[in-house]
Amino acid sequence: MRILVTGGAGFIGSHLVDTLLARGAAEVRVLDNLTNGTRQNLAGQSANPRFTLVVGDVRDGVVREKALHGIDIVYHLACLGVRHSLHDPVENHEVNALGTLVMLQSARAEGIRRFIYVSTSEVFGTAQYAPMDERHPTWPETVYGGSKLAGEAYSRAYFRTYGMDTVVVRPFNTYGPRSHFEGDSGEVLPRTIVRLLAGERPVIFGDGEQTRDFMHVSDTSAALALLAQGPGLAGETLNLGSGCEVTMNALCAAVAVAVGRPDLVPVHDIARPGDVRRLLGDPTLMASLTGFAQTVPFERGVAELVAWFEASGRENPDRLAQIEDRNWVALEAV
Ligand SMILES: NC(=O)c1ccc[n+]([C@@H]2O[C@H](COP(=O)([O-])OP(=O)(O)OC[C@H]3O[C@@H](n4cnc5c(N)ncnc54)[C@H](O)[C@@H]3O)[C@@H](O)[C@H]2O)c1
Repeated sequence: MRILVTGGAGFIGSHLVDTLLARGAAEVRVLDNLTNGTRQNLAGQSANPRFTLVVGDVRDGVVREKALHGIDIVYHLACLGVRHSLHDPVENHEVNALGTLVMLQSARAEGIRRFIYVSTSEVFGTAQYAPMDERHPTWPETVYGGSKLAGEAYSRAYFRTYGMDTVVVRPFNTYGPRSHFEGDSGEVLPRTIVRLLAGERPVIFGDGEQTRDFMHVSDTSAALALLAQGPGLAGETLNLGSGCEVTMNALCAAVAVAVGRPDLVPVHDIARPGDVRRLLGDPTLMASLTGFAQTVPFERGVAELVAWFEASGRENPDRLAQIEDRNWVALEAV
């Protein structure tokens, strides 16, 4: 199969590219404008004749046509993140929602066989019950969550209206090598690791009892790869959760153990507006339709990520300078 991965120079996308090529895809093409993704993430494939990178914007019709030519399967991951949505909600909508609509339109014109839309658990808002199955209400608390939900709605509409084979998948929190600690894109787990490795206390917004459902990126990319094949997935919406929830307090404690600095206890800042209180995905439907089961337990994944940061060259003070541990209240004002 010839596969296009939009956002493939990013964190999850680059791992998906590695997984698809390792599993024998005839060609994997990446479309990414390198806003938050890097060539470095794809360095392992740069000499692979089955791999190509198209640098461009999903909002550009000429670029989309070039990237989609001859493609069988599209994985659509290109997007701007939750913190970006706070200070630039309109651009966030343009890339995440409109960008998905125009990708669907171009993919349909190209006659692709399947369009896999990588959404997010942020479409739910906070858990009204747990574990959260696919029928859980969607009340996103940020423009990011809203724009990703629009992308879901468009993907399902292309299945219902045009009979196009579209699949929506909602990863919960993903972590692992290449995850973002820096700036707008920084995720809580790598940010916490960088702080503790630099001898700084971790920052928790609120009481730290808010929870997330974490999956290692090797499991996330393996699960996504399964969606390229098999009948019975067209029109489906699938949660991709581990079925386990971790509080921010427990996360900081796990990192402190892995780093060997249990003395670095968290600093508590005020709670962030719009911060989701609880996320816990129900993995049942994904398992029954694809046979997927995760393999990396959280503590092992954290220890491996700490080792990856320790081995990956750059000095910790340098990384620390790139972290934005500001509260969203402050971020909104800039
Ligand atoms: N990281 C997580 O925990 C997580 C959880 C749930 C869902 N997701 C979803 O997974 C996908 C990938 O997330 P990620 O964490 O790898 O983020 P990421 O920022 O590393 O990847 C997104 C990629 O999209 C690219 N991009 C941004 N705007 C673009 C544009 N206009 N045109 C082309 N490319 C553009 C960026 O350069 C980047 O490489 C996203 O769709 C996200 O919503 C991520």
